Amino acid sequence: MSKSVELAALIRDRAGDQAPEYGLILGSGLGHLSAHVAGTAIPYDELPGFPHAGVSGHVPQLVVGQLEGRRVAVLGGRSHYYESGRADVMRLPLEVLAALGTRRLILTNAAGSLRPDIQPGGLMLLDDHIAFAGANPLIGEPTEARFVPMTDAHDGALRAELSAAARAEGVELPEGVYCWFSGPSFETPAEIRAARTLGADAVGMSTVPEIILARFLGLRCAAISVITNMGAGLSDEAISHDHTKAMAPIGAAKLEAVLRRFLRDAQDVR
Ligand code: HPA
Repeated sequence: MSKSVELAALIRDRAGDQAPEYGLILGSGLGHLSAHVAGTAIPYDELPGFPHAGVSGHVPQLVVGQLEGRRVAVLGGRSHYYESGRADVMRLPLEVLAALGTRRLILTNAAGSLRPDIQPGGLMLLDDHIAFAGANPLIGEPTEARFVPMTDAHDGALRAELSAAARAEGVELPEGVYCWFSGPSFETPAEIRAARTLGADAVGMSTVPEIILARFLGLRCAAISVITNMGAGLSDEAISHDHTKAMAPIGAAKLEAVLRRFLRDAQDVR
């Protein structure tokens, strides 16, 4: 039996058989939403092979249960490429979501904005991305399935539902392109100018490898950035991880309102 099927069986034993309709991945400083899920929390270290999600601001547990009347599986923390040099570090958790029967994935992250109209404390819905880090989590994947089309990586229907939820909650949710830098160092001002020239609206250190893996596994995806700062050189504010963690809760309140409304208004998908 594959590892993901074994872990899915373990999770079903503890959290029940019903397939989660939605997977959620929570980014830096955004992990507390998992505390609102009525269900079963399983720390990553009880799920052999799950990453340890060692960055502060993350809550490394899987919570399976109900949120706003929907069955969800929430990954309260992620591991990043920069922690290990492995772009496929989230492959097993995503395989487990797929093995549980989850078909839709909402990802969140903290990001720096390149656009004056998207300020810290605001949100951005990803309408596309640039894998600027140059890595790919499917390198080494031996099957033909590795040639994943990425044209619809950011699912139009899910985006429309998230936009409608944001409108209903009175939350601004501009769309934009997210550019993935490897980190862990932040970008230079020249890199931020380069990203802008390439068509990016925000920069961050996560999410893109997970979307590639999720598309490989057949999950439909949408992602929202919580903007914690302006990109390097675009404001006088110093950029740091502490600043990211301090700013994330401001956008997180809006994000939570949008996600709750999205789930509440979601159409049945199965
Ligand atoms: N750059 C990269 N990642 C980030 C940033 C940033 O400015 N802010 C939050 N995560």
